[in-house]
Amino acid sequence: MSAPRKLFVKTYGCQMNVYDSERMTEALGGEGYVTTDRAEDADMILLNTCHIREKAAEKVYSELGRMRALKDANPDLKIGVAGCVAQAEGEEIMRRAPMVDLVVGPQSYHRLPAMDRAVRGGAKALDTDFPDDDKFDTLKARTKMKRAPAAFLTVQEGCDKFCAFCVVPYTRGSEVSRPADRVMREARELVDAGVAEITLLGQNVNAYHGHDAGLAGLIWDLSAIDGLKRIRFTTSHPNDMDDALIEAHGTCDKLMPYLHLPVQSGSDRILKAMNRKHTAESYLKLVDRIRAARPDIMLSSDFIVGFPGETEEDFEATLELIRKVEFGQAYSFKYSTRPGTPAAEKPQMPEDVMAERLSRLQALLTQQQRKIQDDMVGRTVGVLFEKPGRIDGQMIGKSDYLHAVYADAPADVLGQVRQVRITVAGTNSLGGELVR
Ligand code: 5AD
Ligand code: SF4
Repeated sequence: MSAPRKLFVKTYGCQMNVYDSERMTEALGGEGYVTTDRAEDADMILLNTCHIREKAAEKVYSELGRMRALKDANPDLKIGVAGCVAQAEGEEIMRRAPMVDLVVGPQSYHRLPAMDRAVRGGAKALDTDFPDDDKFDTLKARTKMKRAPAAFLTVQEGCDKFCAFCVVPYTRGSEVSRPADRVMREARELVDAGVAEITLLGQNVNAYHGHDAGLAGLIWDLSAIDGLKRIRFTTSHPNDMDDALIEAHGTCDKLMPYLHLPVQSGSDRILKAMNRKHTAESYLKLVDRIRAARPDIMLSSDFIVGFPGETEEDFEATLELIRKVEFGQAYSFKYSTRPGTPAAEKPQMPEDVMAERLSRLQALLTQQQRKIQDDMVGRTVGVLFEKPGRIDGQMIGKSDYLHAVYADAPADVLGQVRQVRITVAGTNSLGGELVR
């Protein structure tokens, strides 16, 4: 038998890409590939790319530039570009980076095995279709290998919201939900392979309609799986938070008290220009309803500063909204022009204004996050232990609220949810001791 071929995958961007990278790795596993974490050893390098902001896309081209030397050293090496840059730029990638052999979009990677055979034969392969066949039906069942305790599971893809700044509706296409029975089957496979926590993924996951009772219905069905201890979901749009989902946060024990609910801005004028179809007030009311159902829920959000036309007053309104909500976690970005989106046509803000606003916004968010971390000290919280820490005898896991937590613990806590009393709070993690 010939030696297995080696696959090196590098993933950029969001959690959906992390999930897709796993599925692509499994698909190529059927072609005799095993993974390597050294690009120099690889027979195939796959970059799973992100197009959400300009910098993310540029990173891919600089990485490809660096890979030219590897290709010179190993002429049999094949290089593939997957993900949203592949979808958005297609053939342009091969023009700009001729060392690329294969370009595959997020909706067509079930065709990777055939594409691999084509490139092995010396051809170039490009597939950025939105095919009629569902990739998840064509992909084989998840492999039986033992898995880490926490896994992602994509249940919904694409977006019909068309926020004025965002490329997702163009790169990922319109909203599609996977049928609940297939999701349930995949969830059971994951749990059988040792998974204790599943995060349901979708660009608009709370618009999931693969179950008669929406995402809440799916969550309740999942919660009946023995051995599955925790359920999370991300990312949600405020307008799709329905009553059943809010209620599930109060009543479903396995649904964790953490919600990523991007608001982007606190100014109604900017929200309107962004085509968000909600106001600051309606977001705050929604937060009140969610907190009424689950008072201790940890909220997180995405923010964009310097959207075209944002005045100092608009920006202040965002700071004001942040002060009112108190976010435990947040991701904030300078607006980045994306060709083909409506906002790209508008006059852009000066870079120094965006940079200055971003640093003020992040200072406030960090302050809030730090306070919430500090308030955890003395509390006892569930922690799913995921891996050994860097210090001997220490284990690391995630709290119910998604904090990274470390504690002295025996190795057999791996994969278990244990109660931990928090004793110290750092900037990015909490330390604690096992209770019993
Ligand atoms: N510029 C800056 N940030 C963006 N995001 C999406 N598009 C852009 C853009 N053009 C941010 C939003 C979104 C997150 C995933 O990325 O905040 O919620
Ligand atoms: Fe992009 Fe808006 Fe859709 Fe989120 S809801 S993926 S920001 S278009």
